[in-house]
Amino acid sequence: MANKSRILVTGAGGFIGHHLVKRLKADGHWVRGVDLKYPEYGTSAADDFQVLDLRVWENCLTATRNIDQVYNLAADMGGIGYITSFLADISKNNILINAHMLEASKQNDVKRYLFSSSACVYAQSKQKNAAVTPLKEEDAYPADPEPGYGWEKLFAEELCRYYYHDYKFETRIVRFHNVYGPLGTYDGGKEKSPAAISRKVAKATDGGTIEIWGDGDQTRSYMYVDDCVEGLVRLMASNHRDALNLGTDEMVSINHLVDMICGIAGKKLTKEHDLTKPQGVRGRNSDNTLLRKVLGWEPSMPLEKGLAITYKWIEGEVKKKEVGELAEVTGD
Ligand SMILES: NC(=O)c1ccc[n+]([C@@H]2O[C@H](COP(=O)([O-])OP(=O)(O)OC[C@H]3O[C@@H](n4cnc5c(N)ncnc54)[C@H](O)[C@@H]3O)[C@@H](O)[C@H]2O)c1
Repeated sequence: MANKSRILVTGAGGFIGHHLVKRLKADGHWVRGVDLKYPEYGTSAADDFQVLDLRVWENCLTATRNIDQVYNLAADMGGIGYITSFLADISKNNILINAHMLEASKQNDVKRYLFSSSACVYAQSKQKNAAVTPLKEEDAYPADPEPGYGWEKLFAEELCRYYYHDYKFETRIVRFHNVYGPLGTYDGGKEKSPAAISRKVAKATDGGTIEIWGDGDQTRSYMYVDDCVEGLVRLMASNHRDALNLGTDEMVSINHLVDMICGIAGKKLTKEHDLTKPQGVRGRNSDNTLLRKVLGWEPSMPLEKGLAITYKWIEGEVKKKEVGELAEVTGD
């Protein structure tokens, strides 16, 4: 391949990073993956995989040595329960990762650096209605992001802009709206809604109940991981330095999401809403006007189809675990 690059993916042991490494390898690049851990499901396709803590400055220097492009996906993050519980730890960990990764990339003459931000940077005051107006990139200001994770992401976006302003260091900023798909965390507390609901449905007996956080009328949009990876590669290749939404504008309520997954599983479950659990902003959707203009493309996987693939994978994992637990009990 003519434009073969040396690419670093941080967070390569995580969900999106693992998929991105596979894609970049398929495109013919040399890829280094870095994470605190190896991928939980399957082996990394990276040429070189290093287990490093990127909060530590020296490790960021090691990770970015002899690298042309950096996709910085490493972050301490999780679903709504996790990000509303650990404000200080998440902020501190991610500020250290992002500040050190930017500076190390600059010092090691990286040519392009992509930062993975989040829709959690959007002003909370603009997301109070389930029938929310889709969020345009400028809706992040005046700043009123989610505590902890949202503030930290918004500041890291600013830091990318400052590095271009002061050093002409080339940065790209992507704002993901919920990403889902196979090989993502589905239990343990860091999982997001499609994975958590798929796990609950897979474990439930037909005719039983399912616990839903909040009243279920809160709305979101969801992007399949293959679309996410395609958007990342396109954004990196573009000349767009300002933040860009990457998500779908197919908005659904959590109750509807549950119905879709139950339909896929062929199970009838009664919803039990737990109003004491965190539900995040009331409504969130992506305005893809700028995305279409900049990338000449937008995510296209229909939610129902992507969920069917994801549910099948999670159901398989849940079954494997149950068989393992049974074998432990019976001594097989
Ligand atoms: N998945 C989504 O819906 C979503 C939405 C918005 C933003 N994002 C952002 O996208 C990026 C990737 O998300 P993901 O869904 O793949 O999450 P993930 O949790 O699966 O992956 C993140 C990876 O970062 C690693 N990491 C954390 N701290 C580290 C450290 N100190 N040093 C090295 N590695 C460290 C984790 O071990 C994990 O494997 C993150 O920056 C996240 O904030 C994701």
